[in-house]
Amino acid sequence: MPTQDQQGALQVALLGCGVVGTQVARILLQEKDSLTRRVGAQLNVLGIAVRSLDTERDAVIPRDLLTTDAHALVEQADIVVEVMGGIEPARELIDHALRHGASVVTANKALLAQHGPSLYETASHHEVDLSYEAAVAGAIPIIRPIRESLAGDNITRVLGIVNGTTNYVLDQMTRHNLDLDTAVRDAQRLGYAEADPTADVEGHDAAAKAAILASLAFHTRVALDDVACEGITHVTAQDVAWAARSGHVIKLLAICERTPAGVAARVHPALVPLSHPLASVGDAFNAVFVEAENAGPLMFYGQGAGGAPTASAVMGDLVTAARNRVLGARGAGESAAANLTLLPSGEALTRYQMRLSVLDQRGVLAQIADVFAKHEVSIETVTQAVREDKPGYAYLVVATHTSRESALAGTVEALKPLAAVDEVMSVLRIEGS
Ligand code: HSE
Repeated sequence: MPTQDQQGALQVALLGCGVVGTQVARILLQEKDSLTRRVGAQLNVLGIAVRSLDTERDAVIPRDLLTTDAHALVEQADIVVEVMGGIEPARELIDHALRHGASVVTANKALLAQHGPSLYETASHHEVDLSYEAAVAGAIPIIRPIRESLAGDNITRVLGIVNGTTNYVLDQMTRHNLDLDTAVRDAQRLGYAEADPTADVEGHDAAAKAAILASLAFHTRVALDDVACEGITHVTAQDVAWAARSGHVIKLLAICERTPAGVAARVHPALVPLSHPLASVGDAFNAVFVEAENAGPLMFYGQGAGGAPTASAVMGDLVTAARNRVLGARGAGESAAANLTLLPSGEALTRYQMRLSVLDQRGVLAQIADVFAKHEVSIETVTQAVREDKPGYAYLVVATHTSRESALAGTVEALKPLAAVDEVMSVLRIEGS
């Protein structure tokens, strides 16, 4: 295991020099003296591993720190900071670092959601830290509050807006009556969305974060494949307008819940009542709303992406890991002791709002109500509006009491073939009420 050198400096290896890596390097170099005082030892940047030495880089990066030999760098380090992203070679390099006795700080949510347990075990076996505050919701401190501050409480639910791109897109649709494609193009122009926005708009990025949050919150391993995931691609301008009419706003939520039967994590667009604190989270901001038995409701809000905000979270982990090494200690490892049952997605309990286009004739409402009743879904409210654009038809907006996901799915399938039902236009869950 590498140890502090004779002057007591800790050797830090940086893997990756993109938007986040550049900002981490800048802070490490510019704040060197102040960091030394905070840690109690100097943080020496040993090197920065990159794919190519020829890429143009920010002037803040000293060229002589760059190397393409990540393995050699990792083997000499006390602390490795992985901000390269992707699964390989990041997984293999982190594993190599842990086995060499280095503590690791990573921002890699996809890697943790897929390979977290084996990496946590390796870190534990080699008695080093593996920390990942930046992997969920960028600058927002949420991993440490759940892992440490709430370690003595019982978290019952986490509702998170954990993807800034989709929050920006839905917010633009809400504020400016845009359709989805126009709002996604805006997000791309502003640099929020990638040229290929799939990971964001299909909910995959949020699902990886949901897996990490649920695992921590419920002391139970929840992998990416355990998260039921639905993105925002089917959300229309009409859905957004109807949400406003019923006093809601549409948000892509990561939902982690514990019930007496077990735990579940899901990601999907949801109607959030305007009175809920998450409803006012606009632009590309993130927020995580936590409900705990003793603490009650808590809300964490801030920037979920971007170089400097994400680097802030990385630096927090780095300083903590460095302090631990100075003290010869290590922070909390994985806590999966509860090992609660993972519930199938059909068992999720929530409320729904369904918008139908139906024939505007007597008896239609009764027929529809009968389908809900037969599937044991209880109706809370029904609103009808004549369709100006389609004479003889009406919109029917049905909000349900809390029901099982599988019962609602059965209701929708039974409604579709009815002669009186022109179209099931949208089915959205209502969360946070
Ligand atoms: N693409 C993510 C977002 C940031 O839009 O929030 C990285 O997880």
